[in-house]
Amino acid sequence: MCGIVGYVGLRSVPETLLDGLKRLEYRGYDSSGMALLNDGKIIEIKNIGKVINLEKKASDTVGLELKNGTGIAHTRWATHGFPSEINAHPHLDAKHRFAIVHNGIIENYQSLKTQLQEKGIVFKSETDSEVLVHLISECYNGNLLEAVATALKKVNGTYGLAVISLESPGTIIAARHGSPLLIGLGEGESFIASDAAALVAFTRRVIYLNDHDVAQVTSSGVEIRNLDNIAVNRDISKIDWEPGAVEKSGFEHFMLKEICEQPEAVGNSIRGRLDLRSGNAHFNALNLSPYELSKINRIVIAACGTSMHAGMVGRYFFEDLASIPVDVEQAAEFRYRNPIIQPDTMVLPVSQSGETADTLAAVREAANKGAIVTAICNVVGSTIARESEHCIYLHAGPEIGVASTKAFTCQVTVLLMLAMLFGRNRRMSYQNALGLIAEIETIPELTKKVLDQRSGIEAVAKKYAEAEDFFYIGRGYLYPVALEGALKLKEISYIHAEGYHAAELKHGPIALLEENVPVVALANDLPGKEKMISNIQECRARCSPVIATVTAGDESFKDLVSDIITIPACSQFIAPVVTAVALQLFAYYVAKERGCEIDQPRNLAKSVTVE
Ligand code: G6P
Repeated sequence: MCGIVGYVGLRSVPETLLDGLKRLEYRGYDSSGMALLNDGKIIEIKNIGKVINLEKKASDTVGLELKNGTGIAHTRWATHGFPSEINAHPHLDAKHRFAIVHNGIIENYQSLKTQLQEKGIVFKSETDSEVLVHLISECYNGNLLEAVATALKKVNGTYGLAVISLESPGTIIAARHGSPLLIGLGEGESFIASDAAALVAFTRRVIYLNDHDVAQVTSSGVEIRNLDNIAVNRDISKIDWEPGAVEKSGFEHFMLKEICEQPEAVGNSIRGRLDLRSGNAHFNALNLSPYELSKINRIVIAACGTSMHAGMVGRYFFEDLASIPVDVEQAAEFRYRNPIIQPDTMVLPVSQSGETADTLAAVREAANKGAIVTAICNVVGSTIARESEHCIYLHAGPEIGVASTKAFTCQVTVLLMLAMLFGRNRRMSYQNALGLIAEIETIPELTKKVLDQRSGIEAVAKKYAEAEDFFYIGRGYLYPVALEGALKLKEISYIHAEGYHAAELKHGPIALLEENVPVVALANDLPGKEKMISNIQECRARCSPVIATVTAGDESFKDLVSDIITIPACSQFIAPVVTAVALQLFAYYVAKERGCEIDQPRNLAKSVTVE
């Protein structure tokens, strides 16, 4: 999704902006651009396609060594208007006195545009964002911050916004509402970005803006006001990961790196949260007393995409371990369906990025209806994390590949520990808890065992890389994993893949099975395996090749399926994590064999901050 970078200071401005943009490429985009304030004019450079094209253009026009100045830059993911150079940001006013870059959507742009056109203003692009620059220009009365605040008061919608002006060299005005923006503080220099990944190579000291903040950023620091021009104070936070965490470290793709990081990532999610003495899990961020926990009688998990699949696994945990009824809701559906929330409902928004628009709206809806909102997020300081009453962090480290991998396994692990906390508050015995703790502690080692079979999974993936349709089937705890496996494959390989409950296959999809349509059957040695064997027979009878995930040592599938991916033996509580790792590798190697752009698949964005 769109990305913003801004810089004011002594470094080379184009180089610094391009460095930041490159670190945001993982979010997905279709065009990019920058505006540089130099020598009494604003230079705009834009390009469709990759940031490397923009770099070439900048180098050919102004050179990359433009020191001591101010600039803003953007990667665009089209919402209003096709990907094109004209629609790419920055947008400038007619006299080239102001330039803006904008993330988000201006919902009332059409009426604002008409009003501005009636005053004779000519629009160049088809974007909603362009209205902002003309509005700011109209509102300008000698003070840039005030002009931006006045303009933003006329706007409905969401924005992360950066503005520069010929009238205020050495200043960037940054503002946010519903679209993340942070300010990086250096020595004699300042940065802005929509994502900490763009800044971490330059500084770790950041300020996360709140909604309705308008910040005046100069090389010597920042002053923040609200839209009514009243000064507000925001804390300085420290980014706690290393710059290396957003680099590939020798891996061919971020996705492969992140798949391989899972033993460590899951280990970090678990660390310090399991207590053998009390036979329980605990989360510093969830400071509810046992009495308060016992009053929660229903859980609603709201999420999108991969996070929703993690939530679906979570439902099994809460029902089995804590006997709490759980609904898993697609977050957009939750917010618009007028959900029933009672005072004893806990809503769990699950979101890697903590910025997904629909999940954030679900948080607000749930809080408004009086639910206890406990977010499960990866990105520290993200909007969902900040707006939820409690937030349990994954500690998975930054996830750059658009297709989510380590966040999924960490989400599932955190949900398992959370279900255990609720279980211990109800009927789960100390002895059973000790058994579960011992199992959870094996997850890093078991995921490593799957990673050790990389080359075997790669060989199977190569065999099927030319298929154009796939089915994934699972039962029980592995049903959501089948959905997630299919999602991974379609996201990065563009193969049409559908995940189904194995029992549902015969209610329609079976009509599509034939020899060119492989079926991935999650046939681990868990309750339901016998029924899965029958489902595999049904697929074979339609000539579909079957690739089965099978528990190590289980010989029953030898003559039954075309290919086997071995999963280390583990209970149904752990199997979703371990099996998901195998399916991630499978999808990765299929996509690689097909020559796909694995880390930035077409049309997809890492974090979807629009509805
Ligand atoms: C996008 C990403 C998915 C992700 C989903 C939810 O669609 O491409 O990988 O699962 O958003 O994102 P979240 O950050 O809320 O987990």
